[in-house]
Amino acid sequence: MNILILGSGGREHALAWKIAASPLATKLYCAPGNAGIAQEAECVALDIADHKAVIAFCKANQIDFVVVGPEVPLVAGIVDDLESAGIKTFGPTKWAARLEGSKGFTKDLCKANNIPTAAYERFKSADLAKDYVRSKGAPIVVKADGLAAGKGVVVAASVEEAEAAIDMMFGGGLGEKAWEIVIEDCLVGEEASFFALCDGDTALPLASAQDHKRVYDGDKGPNTGGMGAYTPAPIMTEDMNRRVMDEIVIPTVKALKKAGAPFKGVLFAGLMITKDGPQLIEYNVRFGDPETQVIMLRMMSDLLPALIAARDGQLKHFDLRWYPDAALTVVMAAKGYPGSYKKGTVIGGLDTAAQLDGVEIFHAGTKKENGAIVANGGRVLNVCARGKTVAEAQARAYAAVDKIDWPDGFCRRDIGWQAITREQQVR
Ligand code: AMP
Ligand code: GLY
Repeated sequence: MNILILGSGGREHALAWKIAASPLATKLYCAPGNAGIAQEAECVALDIADHKAVIAFCKANQIDFVVVGPEVPLVAGIVDDLESAGIKTFGPTKWAARLEGSKGFTKDLCKANNIPTAAYERFKSADLAKDYVRSKGAPIVVKADGLAAGKGVVVAASVEEAEAAIDMMFGGGLGEKAWEIVIEDCLVGEEASFFALCDGDTALPLASAQDHKRVYDGDKGPNTGGMGAYTPAPIMTEDMNRRVMDEIVIPTVKALKKAGAPFKGVLFAGLMITKDGPQLIEYNVRFGDPETQVIMLRMMSDLLPALIAARDGQLKHFDLRWYPDAALTVVMAAKGYPGSYKKGTVIGGLDTAAQLDGVEIFHAGTKKENGAIVANGGRVLNVCARGKTVAEAQARAYAAVDKIDWPDGFCRRDIGWQAITREQQVR
């Protein structure tokens, strides 16, 4: 089969690495890709926002199957456009992608189907939103309705902070003026991510993971796109995984099917594990980044037939096998990230680092320049490792980090601390 992956991050490198290992894959392309992905796939300079150009490329290169990485093209309806052109594609339709594209849509779906989530209201005007915030008090959470590249959520510690967030969102502080916001109660607990493959009817649980969003050790400093992750999440016991499937994922899949817009693709539930059980914080309609990098390391089965079965509505009799190990990834970012940073700095030692036992390095933002790998983004590398425990995976990942010669980069030194503390308590 000829396969095209859309995207250019560490998530897409991990997907390309896994799909390239499939005996079903004849030729693998990635658009636009990066220097790491180029080791697994032919990178193509396509603008993936230009659906017509993607269709033309698929037709010219006899692409049998397309895998969409990021949410923006999904919410823009790339699956609908490719499928209408007769090209099989993994991912949800534009309608179903509203689970990520509209927070209000998801909250209403939860309410209508008794899916546990924080109590909320939707607002189109700042005045009414502020009245609500004053009546509820703080802490309280203010969310822009649409996609906001991870910046559309303010967990406000005071009423004043919530009011400022409302003005910021309606005033265009996120780029475009928000046309609607959601205000919800603040949930208390430990966060975890949960992934399930869906074929419109059946949901097949993949794995749980936890990530570190803050830039500095001890989970301090500003939020980022994620500085590291590990899988499985120790808080996600077998019982908790079951509850998430029964109380959240399966009712969602059923509700979308009933609404006539079945969800196909990967459903990524952001959860708060509260003292009363799991609550949905939000849905994403794609693989997580950097969670996918570690989940792919643990997957023993071939990923490609599972993605095709999800597209074809054939997951019912499908099973996936997993290595029992844990996996962890450390993100190496350009100094200055998430603020301003330099591009084009040279990275050495990648080959030596990748040779360490259990280690795999996925590129997030790199390119090749004059034969050298150089940084081409804020988050640049995902240094990943498998191990019998999170502690072992962490030790291996940091051993690899220490072999990488990149004076202009940095990473956190404590990725996985919560899980490792838990492992130590169990022993
Ligand atoms: P989201 O973009 O919806 O994942 O939100 C980003 C982050 O905001 C989440 O990972 C949580 O840490 C936090 N968050 C969002 N909603 C809530 C909530 N209702 N209660 C507490 N924290 C929240
Ligand atoms: N790691 C969070 C995300 O992919 O949105």
